[in-house]
Amino acid sequence: MSGTLSGRIALVTGGSRGIGRAIALAFAGEGADVAICHRNDPQAGGTLGELRATGARAIAVDADISSEKDTAALFRTIGDTLGPLDIAVANAGILREAPLLETSAADFDAVISVNLRGTFLTAREAARMMLSRPHAAPAGRIITIASDLAFLGRERMAAYCASKGGILSLTRSLARELAPGILVNAIAPGPVDTDMTSPGTMSAEALAQDLATPLARFARPEEIAAVAVFLAGEGSSFVTGQCYGANGGSTMY
Ligand SMILES: NC(=O)c1ccc[n+]([C@@H]2O[C@H](COP(=O)([O-])OP(=O)(O)OC[C@H]3O[C@@H](n4cnc5c(N)ncnc54)[C@H](O)[C@@H]3O)[C@@H](O)[C@H]2O)c1
Repeated sequence: MSGTLSGRIALVTGGSRGIGRAIALAFAGEGADVAICHRNDPQAGGTLGELRATGARAIAVDADISSEKDTAALFRTIGDTLGPLDIAVANAGILREAPLLETSAADFDAVISVNLRGTFLTAREAARMMLSRPHAAPAGRIITIASDLAFLGRERMAAYCASKGGILSLTRSLARELAPGILVNAIAPGPVDTDMTSPGTMSAEALAQDLATPLARFARPEEIAAVAVFLAGEGSSFVTGQCYGANGGSTMY
């Protein structure tokens, strides 16, 4: 630990497992206090224990990030327990793989609600809280999690890809609107070894497509967390409105 986030307070949505867990632990390892939220995830207690074992103050809140009511309650809890946020990572997301002709409007709405509306609600409440901090506070950081599939598109994942493309447009707009007090950047990961990329969630065909990159492997969640630490810290003080493709070379831009 080098303490680059010492004294900062961070939220990681979907922080109970996978990429969010790795980001939360990396932030705590750098000295931040960390709130995670999740949706009814039995792994949340274990992750909370790991966070506290670093010495960080940490809380875990079961909240549906697509619900305005749950999100407002989540931010109230953070304010009451940890204090005003410096860093928010809108990471919670879901994937439903199905052919277009078998995708109901309800399925489409579910994916857009968690991934895009959830990112909007997280960013809005985070901005409200960050802008109320003292003027001398370092710039707040909002980090969104898109996907390389926002650029590539993927058969049987239209709603997911659309949600991630929307997150990139949202990120650029918020970066303009919230400057200079809050820096807003996206990470667009390629394939990462998590529950989302387990055979139960993705087809064998889609998993094989994920390996067709120059690096030809799945990332470890920690390899995405390293980019989040950079975007949360002082080293990225002149970076806003950008998208970091931690993707093994699947897209190059
Ligand atoms: N795994 C990959 O290959 C990959 C690639 C690119 C982008 N991503 C994105 O990274 C993010 C994290 O993915 P992951 O692979 O770690 O997924 P995961 O399934 O391992 O974890 C998802 C997390 O989101 C939470 N969550 C789900 N629905 C929620 C809701 N309605 N409200 C609050 N929390 C909710 C879960 O509780 C869990 O903590 C997602 O946005 C995903 O789209 C993942």
